[in-house]
Amino acid sequence: MQCSPKVSLLLLSCSLLLAACGGRNEAPQGGTGPAAGAAGYDLEALLASADPKRGETLFLQCRACHSVGEGEPHKVGPNLHGVFGRRAGTQPGFAYSEALKESGVTWTPETLDRWLERPSEFIPGNKMVFIGIRDPADRAALIAWLRDATGA
Ligand code: HEC
Repeated sequence: MQCSPKVSLLLLSCSLLLAACGGRNEAPQGGTGPAAGAAGYDLEALLASADPKRGETLFLQCRACHSVGEGEPHKVGPNLHGVFGRRAGTQPGFAYSEALKESGVTWTPETLDRWLERPSEFIPGNKMVFIGIRDPADRAALIAWLRDATGA
């Protein structure tokens, strides 16, 4: 059987095309830049440019369950005064889940960022019924406001 020149030309150009595509796929993906952390964004930079007013508005979705002022009573969730730098699940007088108490987490902007993104993933089995906040800039605004409001 003879291979027609037309077919082999077609095959040749196809493999050239595939090679070109393969080359493009090997190029580095995404543009995270040197400052971005493992999560793909720079929390410090987001915090530095965060709008606390936006954070206060976002806290409306937490307010039903959390107070922030010193000595204010717990609600469905614990009072958050002084939460920065504190071990998770250690506020006296609140019945925390075992999951939170045994998490070993200390609350910092970084751990709060991961908690608020998706509480059920960061500490599985915890009892905070909250889906999470997807936008990193929104979480940074909330964390910036929380820092002031909880006396950090
Ligand atoms: C439906 C009620 C509810 C909502 C809404 C809610 N929380 Fe909570 N939160 C809880 C409960 C309950 C816990 C304790 C969880 C546990 O023990 O597993 C908790 C725990 C926490 C903790 C850990 C406190 C500690 O002492 O370790 C932080 C921080 C927190 N919530 C922040 C927030 C923020 C910020 C929001 C709003 C984005 C929010 N929560 C929304 C109920 C809620």
